[in-house]
Parts: sequence; C-alpha cells; structure tokens
Amino acid sequence: SVDHSADALRRALRTIPDFPKPGIQFQDITPLLADPNLLARAADVLAAPFADSGITQVVGIESRGFILAPLIARQLDAGFVPVRKEGKLPHDTIATSYELEYGTDTVEVHADALDADDCVLIHDDVIATGGTAAATAHLVAQTDAALAGFSFLIALTDLNGRDALPADAPVHTVLPVA
Ligand code: PRP
Ligand code: MG
Repeated sequence: SVDHSADALRRALRTIPDFPKPGIQFQDITPLLADPNLLARAADVLAAPFADSGITQVVGIESRGFILAPLIARQLDAGFVPVRKEGKLPHDTIATSYELEYGTDTVEVHADALDADDCVLIHDDVIATGGTAAATAHLVAQTDAALAGFSFLIALTDLNGRDALPADAPVHTVLPVA
C-alpha cells in the first residue's frame, strides 16, 4: 500500500551529489524541517507505529538525531535522552565503540539516564551501515531498560543497515532510499 503521508516528505528531500565527498549522495532534510506541516508530519509518522508501545524515553543520536527525537518524544508523551559522541556528556557515562571505514568511534549515554522502568525508542535521521544505531542499542542493553524498537526517517537500503540491528527489535523507516 502507498503511504500518502510519506509522499510529501519524500518530495521534500534534497539529494546533494558528492557531499561531503565524491560518490556520496547526501540526503538533505533541511527543506523538510523548514516546512511547518512537513515537520509536524515527520514527527507523526516516526512516532505512530510506537503509539501503543509504552515508550517512556526516546533516545536520539548526536547530532542529526537530536532534531526530530524530542518531537517524537512529545508525540509519545515520553522524555528525550541524548546519546553523544565521546567526552560531551558531563556526568558518569556508559560508552560503546564501533568500527568505521577507517578507525573507530565512541558513543556515550549518561549511566543514570535509563532504568528498569524505561521502555526505549531509538531514533536517528538516517540508517546507513547501521553501525551508529547498533552501538546505541548496545548502550541501551547495558542499562536495565527495555528496547522497544528503532525509528529512522531515511534508510539507505543498499547498505542493509537493518542487518546490524538486533533481529528481534521492530525497525520502522519512513523513507527508504535506494
Ligand atoms: C550520519 C547519520 C547517522 C549515521 C548513519 O551521522 O546522521 O547518525 O551517519 O550511518 P551508519 O548507519 O553507517 O552508522 P554522521 O556521523 O554523519 O554525523 P551527524 O549526525 O553529526 O551529521
Ligand atoms: Mg548522525
């Protein structure tokens, strides 16, 4: 079935060739964000599949995941928890490192941000290889919280990022891009 509510979102994507380096087709969501109706619709469609999941916290991934995660949290009457790059969070943290094409990267969450009462939705703007979201799931797994699923605005489907995520977790993507 065709999701008409996503059509307008897709039309608002702007593909920038060769950014930030040659061969990368960058999916620019800033025109979508700047349109009041599309901004609200994006939050709606990202949150809707999890409306009855008892989500208490939406975990957003620095930096582009910070844009929509708090809006999704408002839709679900949940809170917002930031996952940040290494060294940015001020209190005690849990950290996980993950492989990049060259080297590794580290993400952190506050150790006291999630507990056994929490049911977590992980959000990022884009899933590509899935490495960033998988590392974030690993952070959540180190807490006592339950992971309810993932919500991404864009999935770069050729990279099969879904395969990097826990197999039992629901993964909702609004705009698959081949
Ligand atoms: C981009 C995007 C996701 C991640 C997806 O972030 O916002 O977070 O890459 O890639 P993956 O699935 O292969 O891990 P980026 O590292 O470019 O940083 P930014 O969000 O700070 O712009
Ligand atoms: Mg990012």
